[in-house]
Amino acid sequence: MSKTKMPASLPDPIINENAKIVLARRYQKKDAEGIVYETVKELFWRVASAIAAEEAKYDGSSCKPATLARDFYDLMTSYSFLPNSPTLMNAGTGLGQLAACFVLPVADSIEDIFDAVKHAAMIHKSGGGTGFSFSRLRAKDSVVGSTGGVASGPLSFLRIFNCATEQIKQGGTRRGANMGILRVDHPDIMEFIKAKERDGELNNFNLSIGLTEAFMRAVEKNEEFDLMAPNSGQVVEKLNAREVFNLLVQKAWESGDPGIVFLDRINRDNPTPALGEIESTNPCGEQPLLPYEACNLGSINLGKCYAKGKNGHDSEVNWDELRRIIHLSVRFLDNVIDASVYPLSEITEMVGKNRKIGLGVMGWADLLFQLDIAYNSQTAVDLAERVMKFMRDEARSASKQLAAERGPFPAYAESVFGKANLGPYRNATTTTIAPTGTLSIIGGCSSGVEPLFALSFVRNVMDNDKLVESNPFFETALKQADAYSPKLMEEIAKVGTIRKMEHLPHDLRRVYVTAMDIEPIWHLKMQAAFQKYTDNAVSKTVNLPGSATREDIWDIYWKAYEYGCKGVTVYRDGSKTSQVLCTGDGD
Ligand code: CDP
Repeated sequence: MSKTKMPASLPDPIINENAKIVLARRYQKKDAEGIVYETVKELFWRVASAIAAEEAKYDGSSCKPATLARDFYDLMTSYSFLPNSPTLMNAGTGLGQLAACFVLPVADSIEDIFDAVKHAAMIHKSGGGTGFSFSRLRAKDSVVGSTGGVASGPLSFLRIFNCATEQIKQGGTRRGANMGILRVDHPDIMEFIKAKERDGELNNFNLSIGLTEAFMRAVEKNEEFDLMAPNSGQVVEKLNAREVFNLLVQKAWESGDPGIVFLDRINRDNPTPALGEIESTNPCGEQPLLPYEACNLGSINLGKCYAKGKNGHDSEVNWDELRRIIHLSVRFLDNVIDASVYPLSEITEMVGKNRKIGLGVMGWADLLFQLDIAYNSQTAVDLAERVMKFMRDEARSASKQLAAERGPFPAYAESVFGKANLGPYRNATTTTIAPTGTLSIIGGCSSGVEPLFALSFVRNVMDNDKLVESNPFFETALKQADAYSPKLMEEIAKVGTIRKMEHLPHDLRRVYVTAMDIEPIWHLKMQAAFQKYTDNAVSKTVNLPGSATREDIWDIYWKAYEYGCKGVTVYRDGSKTSQVLCTGDGD
């Protein structure tokens, strides 16, 4: 595919200090000695021109590659939209692995298990993260037919995956992230729930328990539920559902692990049930996928979609600008699929059938700051629904337009959309809300749909770099209120929040809230509001103060179920020895 040459008049991007460090470390190309030889401008042009070049494949295209390359460049360098890290790292380099999310099957034989270990290693090497369901593996101590011995169970194999990951730094620079899921009705469930109770254990894995609705009903009624042998479906044991749920809550209270995912709900939203059942998500939980499926993500910076009202009043979301960005971003992400080269033919085949993309948002807290809306308010929750409904509707309309130009995703006829005569769409899913661990640093915005962790803080990024950050909207607001002073900033950096600083104006303290200032219920309400209009799932951590009780966590898990979330992750302040601010970064 021929790429458009960089125009001489191309403007230089403006890059924030933190982004400079991150981009040089991980994204700009380096020579054999590790010396960076690509400028940031060249980086963004490399990506823009490579993704735009795919346009030439389509006769019916409404865009010219050269014009589109410039549009994509402007889209990224205005930090209105950024594609997931593997696209930024690899597009146009000849490496071609551009997706962040993969799910691999783990079937119940030694050959299949070690194939999965090998395939995961290949994906990690190329910059992607992998999710697995271990639910098909026979239970520990059950009979192995071929040898007459006993099986060692999902957990012992999970340790092998963990160990293999440790050895392979993703793309040579970052550790591969994994998700391990076990269904709650697997006989080894109690051991799995406790798997990460020792600090540092299985540190390359996020673990989640796959909860079923049958199990949740048993918890509600305080009944027993069945544990079943995965290979025969035979009931091997009965457990009291509340005891299992209690253990789950206890472990999450101790360390944040495991999280939970609601498998039935995820499968109700499976757009192509004829192609199989969804058993796992990607590492951070936002992308449920079929076995061998991959998905590339991208995030729109909502902080850039703000329109100041006339006379400073009636500020609003800039809906026209948001629509423009969504349509361009959907085209970008669909082209990424064509530009991708996957490490396994099975993946190429699955991605080719569904063409899933995951367009999401970041900078949500920044948008709320600009609109003077407190994150922990019904106004914010209502706006979240409105914004995400708009995102989903416009992303689907963009996908429809692409289908008219390029044809629907090949599995469309057998999909839920095809059966209901909706569409046709170019993509089986269009929306996902990612953590944006690194993208938010590059974009200089708040991450995903999270509130700020602190208004001002020291961030540990990657290996040893320490970055001091304070939110620019907060700084401006302080200045406007005549409250800014370097001494005050120092004080705030120590505690992160202004909640107790009663000398500051009330309105500032109302709007500039941080994750820890917010009652847990608002975290959950926000997650549910975004989930309502997201095809895939929402990455979100419900942050709890150190004083939160087990009952609080029970309540959150239960409400996540009631509110229609696809899963939930909690984190109680101080419950891990090394606290990572940016969960997606995996370092
Ligand atoms: O901001 P960035 O594009 O780097 O990633 P993110 O939004 O924080 O994470 C998106 C997805 O990338 C995760 O859910 C994982 O699937 C993958 N990822 C990974 O495999 N390894 C990491 N260290 C970070 C992210």
